[in-house]
Amino acid sequence: MSEAFDLVIHGGTLATASDVFPADIGVRDGRIVQIGENLLGAARTIDATGRYVLPGGIDSHVHLAQPSGEGIVMADDFESGTRSALVGGNTTVLPFCLQEKGQSLREALTRYHALAEGCCYTDVSFHLIVSDPTPSVLGQELPALVADGYTSFKVFMTYEDLRLNDAEILDTMEVARRTGALVMVHCENEDAIRYLINRHEAEGNVAPRAHATSRPVAAEREATHRALSLAEIVDVPVVIVHVSNGAAMAEIARARSRGRPIVGETCPQYLMLTAADLDGMDWEGAKFVCSPPPRTEAEQEACWRGIETGVFDLFSSDHCPFRYDDPAGKLNPKGRQSFRHIPNGIPGVEVRLPILFSEGVMKGRIDLPRFVALTATNHAKVYGLERKGRLAVGMDADIAIWDPNERRTIRHADLHDGADYSPYEGIHVQGWPTTVILGGEVMVEGGRLVAPAPAGRYRSRSLSALARR
Ligand code: URP
Ligand code: ZN
Ligand code: ZN
Ligand code: ZN
Repeated sequence: MSEAFDLVIHGGTLATASDVFPADIGVRDGRIVQIGENLLGAARTIDATGRYVLPGGIDSHVHLAQPSGEGIVMADDFESGTRSALVGGNTTVLPFCLQEKGQSLREALTRYHALAEGCCYTDVSFHLIVSDPTPSVLGQELPALVADGYTSFKVFMTYEDLRLNDAEILDTMEVARRTGALVMVHCENEDAIRYLINRHEAEGNVAPRAHATSRPVAAEREATHRALSLAEIVDVPVVIVHVSNGAAMAEIARARSRGRPIVGETCPQYLMLTAADLDGMDWEGAKFVCSPPPRTEAEQEACWRGIETGVFDLFSSDHCPFRYDDPAGKLNPKGRQSFRHIPNGIPGVEVRLPILFSEGVMKGRIDLPRFVALTATNHAKVYGLERKGRLAVGMDADIAIWDPNERRTIRHADLHDGADYSPYEGIHVQGWPTTVILGGEVMVEGGRLVAPAPAGRYRSRSLSALARR
């Protein structure tokens, strides 16, 4: 006789973005089919007594297998990056598909799909990075790709090889206005940063710490203000990604008070690290080089307030891993000479959720529904993942079961990414996702990877709930 359910999760405390309540979850054919009391008749039952049952995390800001130029290699491919994400409680990640200059978006997508095919441990979907907005890219390719389910794209105001000027940003936003796609913006003023990098180097100030002083709050605040103004002029919603400080947050709050639809994102590095971490001996500061850079303790507190008060809708990792002690990583030959050549980005996809759970929920800064909203539900809503991010009948059975009593010390040796360090080494956390279920299949048990094979799938996306006005 076949059972009513393939899987029942029994006895746990469920949390959604609005509620916390005891219930069982019944799963069949990869979907949640019932939520209620005393569900019986399952091929397999998991006892979740004393644990929290949450939607699997969605990390909507992850870099995997991106080429980084000048012999630099990203430390994670799709296999190691999604494996690390899965063990950290995530069931979906949204990496970027980078358009290189001269390349069509279709060519770029063909490459990234080939890299991801058959080797992902979580479900995946791609944001596009538009670095070469030619008339044919904006006129034909991008609208066709939005219709095909690539419904978000990122533009950069910084990095010499990626930045768009204001005219190009306006034209790209216009495509979003016409198609309903969502634009994400990396807000830092490239010309101001170039000026400061040159000045630092001229003064012989070349150690990793100079990375932080060459990318000051004012450069981020100004670009945030400009991005929000450009979005207002075009009249499109916009995501301001990886916000690091209170002044940029204030720009978001002010634009919202004018009625602008804006999504704000912050990341663990802006809660847990400061610019002083870039001061490490023997170039160890390179381990913390990312953009925008970590700031001060006062800015960490500002970011916490943004998390508590709703300035931020999204908490993502911005996982962008490079090995440290490696000529193809942070300590490449030029990077040892000047901070200018240290690749930007740090790993964090596996510890994003435990850090926010421990520092946020366990320390009483946010409640469990807010945690769920910031780490799963809002990502699904903002980026059009209709069957993800919620525990509800009909949703994909993507579930993380958390033990709030599990204490760990973060050690890179225990993580599953391809880097050779963690910027969060030695941090104590309480709370860990001990069981992770993807599409109804148990992939992590007792905190250990038990997935027999990478079973994640590519997911096409709808238009953002924000852009569908
Ligand atoms: O330093 C960072 N964040 N590198 C990743 C690329 C980006 O700007 O998000
Ligand atoms: Zn039960
Ligand atoms: Zn960025
Ligand atoms: Zn990023």
